Amino acid sequence: MTDTRMLDQGTQPIRFARGWHCLGLASDFADGKPHAVQGFGTKLVVWQGGNGELNVLDGYCRHMGGDLTQGEVKGDHIACPFHDWRWGGDGKCKEIPYARRVPLRARTQRYETVVRNGQLLMWHDPEGSAADHELLPPELPDVMTDKYTPWSWHTKEINGSHCRELIDNVADMAHFYYVHFAFPTSFRNIFDGHTATQFMESKGRPDTMGGGYGDENSTLKSVATYYGPSYMINWLEVDYKGFITEVILINCHIPTGPTSFTLQYGISVRKPEGLDEKTCAYIAERYTESFGDGFLQDVAIWENKVAVQNPLLCEEDGPVYQLRRWYEQFYVDVADIAPEMTDRFEFEVDTTKANEYWHAEVADNLAKRAAAEADAEAAAPADA
Ligand code: FES
Ligand SMILES: [Fe+2]
Repeated sequence: MTDTRMLDQGTQPIRFARGWHCLGLASDFADGKPHAVQGFGTKLVVWQGGNGELNVLDGYCRHMGGDLTQGEVKGDHIACPFHDWRWGGDGKCKEIPYARRVPLRARTQRYETVVRNGQLLMWHDPEGSAADHELLPPELPDVMTDKYTPWSWHTKEINGSHCRELIDNVADMAHFYYVHFAFPTSFRNIFDGHTATQFMESKGRPDTMGGGYGDENSTLKSVATYYGPSYMINWLEVDYKGFITEVILINCHIPTGPTSFTLQYGISVRKPEGLDEKTCAYIAERYTESFGDGFLQDVAIWENKVAVQNPLLCEEDGPVYQLRRWYEQFYVDVADIAPEMTDRFEFEVDTTKANEYWHAEVADNLAKRAAAEADAEAAAPADA
């Protein structure tokens, strides 16, 4: 028997989470063509019918398995490329042009959809419940108007990792210093019902060239809330030398298999008032780039880490186990949701000791850099 702690990598859950999942920008599906989206262990077909509605069905035809994503939109329906069976957004087979009648109970898997904040969301539940509209993420006032820049939207496939790995980030104070090159000066979590929120304030490190969080001239107030298992809204207020900009970052994902998911993120920036369009566009572009980069710093970690069911934590780490209990509610039957998964839980991390150490480390890094630069200057030929 040794005291060595072993890493428990666990087994990945076979079922996929219950809740609203974002498939992408609604406008990207609105061209009258079928679109394929990998998700929930299968392929989905997404299309806009002639009536303007966006529909999501299982991508494989219930007749003989044809791939509906390679079919054609005919009127309001999706037509299979194999024998032209026509499927409606309600999941029913509407017409078989060569047949006298449609078989009774010709129905495929359909998913309820909602367009919110310009994004197409679908309800997924292994138990097959009706969509719960109470659990939708909130509407963002003024987003999608000329007060904000249009969504800058990005997609990234992640392989070799279960999506629950990225949820841990909500409770992770210390990674802001190491991964995002910022001092997290204040850090708090609230888990409540189907939401999990991180409140964070940070200041960029002067010894690094960080992305969104790491600019030494910036301080940041960030509130990031998961609404359900896969859709996070992150409100960011950046103070750059006294100039405040509001940024909204969406971080969402669709599970594709037991160890893979598709990550999507979108950024919209409130156009600063009193500036001309060109300057607004420039500022928005800069923030889009830098918060995009900041997000990719996380992605690089997720892509390479292993799963761990028994993380070994110190006092400065946030409430990872409580967060995982919260996340578990989306993987059990509704009847099995226990109070400890949804009860309100609040915790603030004391960041004092961490910031003392980090400030000393950064001061040391800056001193070393200054010394190295002075050496290099002394060694350079005077007339060069
Ligand atoms: S497989 Fe789709 S119509 Fe036959
Ligand atoms: Fe992060």
